[in-house]
Amino acid sequence: MTDTSSTIRRVTGEELLATAYPLQDYAFGATPVAAAPQADGWRRSLAYREDNVTLVSFTGAEASATAVGIPMRQHVRGRTLPMLGVSGVATHPAARRQGHVARLLTRLHGEMRDSGHVVSTLYPYRMSFYERAGYVGFPKPRSIRLFPDGLHRIRHAEVPGGELSLHRIGTAFDDYHRFIEQLLGERHGFSVPPRRSVTELRDSDSHWVILARQNDEVAGALLYRTNGFGHELQGSRFLSRGLAGRVLLLQWLGLHAEQYSAFTFELPPDGRPDLWYTDIRYTDETKIASPLHSAPMGRVLSVEGLAGISVGSSRVRVEVVDDPFVAGTWVLDGTTGELEVNSVPTRSGGAGSGSGAGSGSGTGSGLPTATLTSHGLAALVYGVLDPAEVALQGYGKIDAEAAQALRTLFPPATPYLFASF
Ligand SMILES: CC(C)(COP(=O)(O)OP(=O)(O)OC[C@H]1O[C@@H](n2cnc3c(N)ncnc32)[C@H](O)[C@@H]1OP(=O)(O)O)[C@@H](O)C(=O)NCCC(=O)NCCS
Repeated sequence: MTDTSSTIRRVTGEELLATAYPLQDYAFGATPVAAAPQADGWRRSLAYREDNVTLVSFTGAEASATAVGIPMRQHVRGRTLPMLGVSGVATHPAARRQGHVARLLTRLHGEMRDSGHVVSTLYPYRMSFYERAGYVGFPKPRSIRLFPDGLHRIRHAEVPGGELSLHRIGTAFDDYHRFIEQLLGERHGFSVPPRRSVTELRDSDSHWVILARQNDEVAGALLYRTNGFGHELQGSRFLSRGLAGRVLLLQWLGLHAEQYSAFTFELPPDGRPDLWYTDIRYTDETKIASPLHSAPMGRVLSVEGLAGISVGSSRVRVEVVDDPFVAGTWVLDGTTGELEVNSVPTRSGGAGSGSGAGSGSGTGSGLPTATLTSHGLAALVYGVLDPAEVALQGYGKIDAEAAQALRTLFPPATPYLFASF
C-alpha cells in the first residue's frame, strides 16, 4: 500500500536538486529542458541560497510541495527588523488543492518567527490566497517608461559636487550594495536579502550600474541593461537619495536621448515624476494582474518584536484575533515616540509579556480598544490603510475613538519593499 500521509521537513544541499528545485522549475520555469546542464546550474546556485530555509512537504517518499523562507531585513518605521521573505512556493500539480501549501506556510511562519523574524513579506500569485495566511496588500511600485523628449531641459542643471561613473556591476558591487544598505536604514518598507544571495548579481555581471555621487557620497544608482541601438534602455530600480541623485541619474539618461527610444525603470509607489522637468513625457505601465504582476503583501509575525518602531503619541488596546502568531490582547503605547508593547494577561492567568522600555501598561482597561485581524494589524503597522478602511475591508472592528487613537499611533506611510524574490 502506498503511504499518502504527508510530512514536512527542512531540505538542504544536494537533496534540493531532487525535491524542491524540480517542483519550482515546473511551477515557474519554461520546461522541460535538458537535465544535465540544468542540474549543473542548480548546483552552482546552491551557494547563493545557503541562508534560505527550504521546507518540503513529502507524501510518502515523494516531494509534493515546497516553500522557501529567505532571512531578510526590512525597515519598518525607523527600525530595521528581521523579515521573512516567502518565495519559491510550489506544489506538484497532482498534489494541489490538498492543503500542502497552507500547512507549509504555517510551519514556515512558526519556525521563522521562533528564530526572531518579526515581519514577513511576499509577492503573491493571487492576493486572496495569501490573505488567508494573514497578509495585507502593499501599494505597488510604479513601472515607468520615460521618453527622451524634454530630457535636455535638465542637462545644464547644476549639482554642486556631483559626478557620475559607469561600471559593470561586477566591479562596483560593493559601492552599490553599501548604497542599498544605506537606503535600508532610511526608507520605510525597504528590504535587503542576505549578502550571500545578492552576490549572484555581482558574479553574473550582466548589468551596468551608473552611480551618481555628490561630494563623494553615492546619492543615486540605476542598474540597467541595454537592448540595442534605437530600442530601449531597461533600467531596474531608479534609486535616489534626494534631488541630487535624481537629477544626476536623469542627466545620465539624457546623454542617451538619441541612442534609445525609451528608458524603463521602477519607482517607489509614491514616486511622482510628473514635475521632474518641463515637457516630461512618460507612461506609467504599472499593472496589477495575477499571476505575474502582483503588488507585494506583508504581515506581522511577532507583536512584541515591533517594540521600538517610531510611532505617534497615543495609547490603544488591541485584541488581535484569528491568527496563530499574533493573536492576543496588547496595549500599544506610543507616548515616548517609540512603540512599547505589552501583552495583556489572559483571564486564565497566562503570563503577559512586555517589551520596550518602562513598566507594563496593565490591562489597558479604559483605553480605546479595537479588534483586529492579522491583516488589520499589518495594515496599520505598515501604514497602508486608515483605521476606517481596515474596518471597511473586514479586518477589524474599530469605533471612532479607537480609530483616532490608531491613526495617531500609526500615521499613513508608504512601504517600498525594493527587493524582489
Ligand atoms: C498556488 C499553489 C502553490 C497552491 O498550492 P496548493 O498546495 O494547492 O495550496 P493549498 O492546497 O493550500 O490551497 C489551494 C486551494 O485549495 C483549497 N484546498 C485546500 N485543501 C483542500 C481540500 N482538502 N479540498 C479542497 N480544496 C482544498 C484551498 O482552500 C485553496 O483554495 P483557493 O483556490 O480558494 O485559494 C499551486 O497551485 C502551484 O504550485 N501553482 C503554480 C506556482 C504558483 O503559483 N506558486 C505561488 C507563487 S506565489
